[in-house]
Amino acid sequence: MMDSTALPCIPCSFWQGFPLTASLLILWLPSTVAQLTIESVPPISAEGDNVLLFVHNLPENVQAFSWYTGVMALKSREIARYEIATNSRTLGTAHSGRATVFNNGSLLIKNVTRKDSGYYILQTLDTHLRSEITRVEFFVHAPIFGFKKHATPSKPTVELVPPMVAEEDNVLFLVRNLPEKLQGFAWHKGVLPLDHFKIASHAILINSSMLAHKYYGRATIYTNGSLLLQNVTQKDTGIYTLRTISADLRSEWAIMHLQVNSK
Ligand SMILES: *[C@@H]1O[C@H](CO)[C@@H](O)[C@H](O)[C@H]1NC(C)=O
Ligand SMILES: *[C@@H]1O[C@H](CO)[C@@H](O)[C@H](O)[C@H]1NC(C)=O
Ligand SMILES: *[C@@H]1O[C@H](CO)[C@@H](O)[C@H](O)[C@H]1NC(C)=O
Ligand SMILES: *[C@@H]1O[C@H](CO)[C@@H](O)[C@H](O)[C@H]1NC(C)=O
Ligand SMILES: *[C@@H]1O[C@H](CO)[C@@H](O)[C@H](O)[C@H]1NC(C)=O
Repeated sequence: MMDSTALPCIPCSFWQGFPLTASLLILWLPSTVAQLTIESVPPISAEGDNVLLFVHNLPENVQAFSWYTGVMALKSREIARYEIATNSRTLGTAHSGRATVFNNGSLLIKNVTRKDSGYYILQTLDTHLRSEITRVEFFVHAPIFGFKKHATPSKPTVELVPPMVAEEDNVLFLVRNLPEKLQGFAWHKGVLPLDHFKIASHAILINSSMLAHKYYGRATIYTNGSLLLQNVTQKDTGIYTLRTISADLRSEWAIMHLQVNSK
């Protein structure tokens, strides 16, 4: 289930303070059928914006669906449920008063705050009572210290080279301003530093890199922080996060959205 190879705990402190435990990750089941996709519009936004989690290809035999925050369909994390036949909405306990579900599956979240950043899942139930789960994520940055405007000496920035990417291209997440005196850094797919979504990490003190299994042969992490992804597919579309950890355990991050276009 875990993609990462277990390297002898790259400075163990590296992952301390990161909120989710392995047991939670093991319970998480990825969706296998991928016709239904969800796009966050925009994928990266500022506080106060509205974000639409846009559902493409909601199957016709879906009779009900629920939106949840997080990576699992927990009742306590339910935002809202929609029954298509009766056109009825039921708000869940995780409803913030700012979210609206539409009959086509999409979810609109108004006036987002940084705390809204993270994963959301849509669970659909079809007429044979089969359930599917699809995940989406978005990131909200503070309006003033936006990720583009913020350029203090200690804050890394990421740039895509080339800026426009199509299937089968190679893309470099070019990092500038990598802070000094680091213990290490890691790249994750998505906005949260969950082990399951780790792509690669590098421990500077022992000059050792590790790569998650599913990126073997097509990702390269460089000691300057940059990440090369080769031969990308549309499944690589999404948010990528670089997190650095300094010798005194301070963490910085930089995010980038990769859109892989069809050829
Ligand atoms: C779903 O409905 C919302 C609200 O009417 C709309 O903005 C969105 O474009 C619709 N999505 C699709 C895939 O039709
Ligand atoms: C958006 O939320 C902030 C608090 O996070 C609140 O002060 C503001 O009034 C809200 N704006 C709208 C348009 O609801
Ligand atoms: C780190 O290891 C790589 C080989 O994996 C080597 O090429 C490089 O010179 C090493 N860097 C340092 C600073 O030791
Ligand atoms: C980091 O290393 C990669 C691979 O050698 C290189 O392409 C990139 O330009 C380097 N980044 C910087 C900022 O020098
Ligand atoms: C790129 O990936 C596709 C499958 O997604 C494969 O058919 C193709 O051979 C790969 N190309 C290279 C240059 O590795």
